[in-house]
Amino acid sequence: MRDQEPQKLLGDAPAFQAVLEHVSSVAPLNKPVLIIGERGTGKELIASRVHYLSQRWEETLLKINCAALPESLLESELFGYEAGSFTGAGKRHQGRFERADGGTLFLDEISSMSMRVQEKLLRVIEYGEFERVGGTETLTVNIRIIGAANADLPEMARNGKFREDLLDRLSFDVITLPPLRARIEDIELLATHFATGMVKELKRELFQGFSQAAMKKLEDYAWPGNIRELKNVVERAVYRNDGKKLISEIEFDPFNSPYRPGKNTASSNQTESKEILTVVPTNEISDFRQHIRDYEISCLQNALETNRHHQQNTAKALGLTYNQLRSYLRKYNDELVDDEAQATK
Ligand SMILES: Nc1ncnc2c1ncn2[C@@H]1O[C@H](COP(=O)(O)OP(=O)(O)OP(=O)(O)O)[C@@H](O)[C@H]1O
Ligand SMILES: [Mg+2]
Repeated sequence: MRDQEPQKLLGDAPAFQAVLEHVSSVAPLNKPVLIIGERGTGKELIASRVHYLSQRWEETLLKINCAALPESLLESELFGYEAGSFTGAGKRHQGRFERADGGTLFLDEISSMSMRVQEKLLRVIEYGEFERVGGTETLTVNIRIIGAANADLPEMARNGKFREDLLDRLSFDVITLPPLRARIEDIELLATHFATGMVKELKRELFQGFSQAAMKKLEDYAWPGNIRELKNVVERAVYRNDGKKLISEIEFDPFNSPYRPGKNTASSNQTESKEILTVVPTNEISDFRQHIRDYEISCLQNALETNRHHQQNTAKALGLTYNQLRSYLRKYNDELVDDEAQATK
């Protein structure tokens, strides 16, 4: 599978322009690169750009999502297998390393790679050598690795969840993508780009533009899903609009409905906040400190959800300063469920 021409990367914000410069300077080097960023920040697009700006641009660029496959399947997809090496292995299978020889292999969500696969990867990076699953012949390849992750890899390495020696080799240079909320200047440009694309898709003649209030809403939102989320929100707003007037309605959450099970009804909100404030009988608290932690976490989670992860508004709702909120979010980074954790990074 050969990748198509790279998609255009839009953005004038200094934080994004600095990334593009970083990419241009590291791309020609024949070294591994790591791309770190929250979901939807453009890691895959940046990986393509690294490849197309490298000397390997005419060679193959292959991608594999390490989180999408269980360990043994990932191993055989990466390194291939010999006929008969496991049930169902009818013919010899070439892995991505063989197929991308001479080119670039993009390992997406590298943080979910198991220790066994990490060990094999380490050897390919170090010596360019590996064996197919169930094979004894040592194959040699010339591959440039680009890894992507939405995780704190050094922290994972400290906790024994990622090999330090592999991280050392992969992180010759690390490109960290700014979340959309750190490049608010680009929201109008990106939103207009996605809206125009949707107008074309709907075969409408003209994009009428956003109302000022709608644009302010877009710029004030914290975008935990980043550019992908912006694209969805804008495309939804365009198609829900009749195409004859400015876009004024922005719906961030397509699940939003007064009838949403268990959520968003006035009575259930009241119940939720009551639940939080209930004083638990002392004999039910076996660990006071843990109880207080749980209490703080549930308050934070509630406030983040109510305020759509907008940190300034969440801080205000809790009567905290922005910095006080940030320090709570750091403290409970691991406990706050997915979306909240994303929004704190
Ligand atoms: N700078 C940009 N200009 C235009 N579109 C962009 C830009 N960055 C990202 N996108 C678009 O945003 C979406 C998400 O990008 P991409 O898939 O590269 O992100 P990701 O970081 O790999 O996300 P995930 O972590 O969820 O895999 C895609 O539709 C992509 O085309
Ligand atoms: Mg991706």
